[in-house]
Amino acid sequence: MAFYSEDIIEEVRQRNPVVDVIGSYIHLQKKGGNYFGICPFHNEKSPSFSVSPSRQAYHCFGCGKGGNVITFVMDYENCSFPEAMDILAKRAGIDLPKQEYTPQQKKDADLRTTLLSMHKDAALFYVHELRSEGGKIGRAYFNRRELTEETIRSFGLGYASQHNDALYRYLKEKGYTDEQLKESGLVTLKETGVYDKFWNRVMFPIMDVNNHVIGFGGRVMGDGEPKYLNSPETKIFEKSRNMYGLNVARRTKESYILVCEGYMDVISMHQAGFTNAVASLGTAFTEQHGTLLRRYTEEVILCYDNDGAGRKAILRAAPILKGAGLHVKVLNLMPYKDPDEFMKNLGPDAFRERIRDAVNVFLFETACMREEYDFKDPAEKAAFFNKAANRLAKEFTDPIERNAYTEAVAKQYGIEFDILKRQVSQIGNQIGLTKREEPEPQAESGLQPASALPRKKKESGNVAAEKMVLTYLSDAPQVYAAVEKWLKPSDFSDELMQETASALFEQLKTGKVDISKMMDRFLENDRHDEVSAILNSRFMADADDAERRGAFSDAVRRILLENCSRAAESCEDPMLAMELLKKKQDIQNLKLF
Ligand code: GTP
Ligand code: MN
Repeated sequence: MAFYSEDIIEEVRQRNPVVDVIGSYIHLQKKGGNYFGICPFHNEKSPSFSVSPSRQAYHCFGCGKGGNVITFVMDYENCSFPEAMDILAKRAGIDLPKQEYTPQQKKDADLRTTLLSMHKDAALFYVHELRSEGGKIGRAYFNRRELTEETIRSFGLGYASQHNDALYRYLKEKGYTDEQLKESGLVTLKETGVYDKFWNRVMFPIMDVNNHVIGFGGRVMGDGEPKYLNSPETKIFEKSRNMYGLNVARRTKESYILVCEGYMDVISMHQAGFTNAVASLGTAFTEQHGTLLRRYTEEVILCYDNDGAGRKAILRAAPILKGAGLHVKVLNLMPYKDPDEFMKNLGPDAFRERIRDAVNVFLFETACMREEYDFKDPAEKAAFFNKAANRLAKEFTDPIERNAYTEAVAKQYGIEFDILKRQVSQIGNQIGLTKREEPEPQAESGLQPASALPRKKKESGNVAAEKMVLTYLSDAPQVYAAVEKWLKPSDFSDELMQETASALFEQLKTGKVDISKMMDRFLENDRHDEVSAILNSRFMADADDAERRGAFSDAVRRILLENCSRAAESCEDPMLAMELLKKKQDIQNLKLF
């Protein structure tokens, strides 16, 4: 955010009315002073997404997403803050001040731009080749794989001919230098001459989430080695930060993304209507892939090949995906080898059923583990159940979920539910105990000075009170006068609430509350939805004013008292302790209204 001044951000925001911009993405209907529509960020049938022209803000009552026009573009386009500024400035015809680059930065940025345009040219070239007389065999290949014209077009599929320098000559003609071409990975410059990397192959352009071509996969049209040839990593192509098909899949309204192994799987799934399928780019699954997917979804369904390699890949990817905070399921393709084959044989309806039947990857992992044990040997059988109990206890912290999976495992592997359950909860308790044995924050002995202790973790009740206070103040600015001398931003325990309070109080002091402007402070904060929810909610909408003020006073007292206690806890000076005690009494008797 650093390089745009507040003024320019404000100008961009003001010249892009929130209703106009959001209305250009989704259908909005006026109801009272606000506009409503179907939320683009989660799956819903009736509109709970509201846009307020007076606040220049939006908020979804279904999923909690919210903010101002800039956060909307960031969320909808899944782009960074500077990118959103770019989009909105263009839309309103504003010239953004140019960033100051160091010479090296400028050189890098220029090379990136050049490589992107070169890849676009290359992709168009391969498409043109596919459509030409010489591209016949490429077209025949795609026909054989049952791809429709529409699919070939939408994935930008192409063809690299037998001439092993056709692309090189084309790109040279377009004005690219050898130096630039070398950086692209599309050609190899050797002493013996210059060769295209790809020839005699059908071509799959690989796009980043913003639809820029950043690399290629090329497949032989029959048998031959290697089956796929992929672009090397370049300044614009990072395999662990991109996924094939994600440029389309990111727009899905399904609550999950399907992850498969191959390009052809992705294409054939999209053709069958499953436009939320992606694949990694011929590399193993990485943490960055996990984080990338987490930006777009909460659940991943693995549709890996039904073979040893696929199985290994699942066991490898699952912990990474779980680590990124995703729910992971596994889809059963039996009796077919991969999604492409499945789709061709059983079709989309059968596939939809398999999606419905997909099991939590935990059960898949357990089934794989089971194979390492010989149940004819009682000792091994016992060892299996102990290991299973251990994993159940560690994996599921939610008691209902834990119970359900314990039941499933018991049933599947033939052990009495109660026995397994007892074992799971015993292990669960042990894990809990070891947690509690970690250094205790409270020193009961009183020997340790309280100030040396870590600040107690705030219970959510307190944060809830803090949110309530901020909501009411943004909703009823006139109330601020009553608390102004009591409440300071530093009284809030939660860091984000502190920042929200300080932004809000600043505006309340001037008497001009501008919610949309306030959101500018949180554009690059990944908790901005929380701030938006606070600032865009009605405080106790069904209550009358007296009830509202009562609840508000309670919440203010709670925050102040908590603060006092915290100060008292770490206070060693007896005089100060007395003062705090007195202050506590004052707060208890505090009448705001
Ligand atoms: P089809 O045989 O055309 O259906 O291929 P597929 O898309 O089903 O791919 P497959 O399951 O054989 O392999 C999965 C992915 O691994 C491919 O999409 C490629 O990204 C990658 N891959 C496959 N073969 C090779 C290879 O020979 N070399 C490299 N570098 N990558 C490969
Ligand atoms: Mn395949």
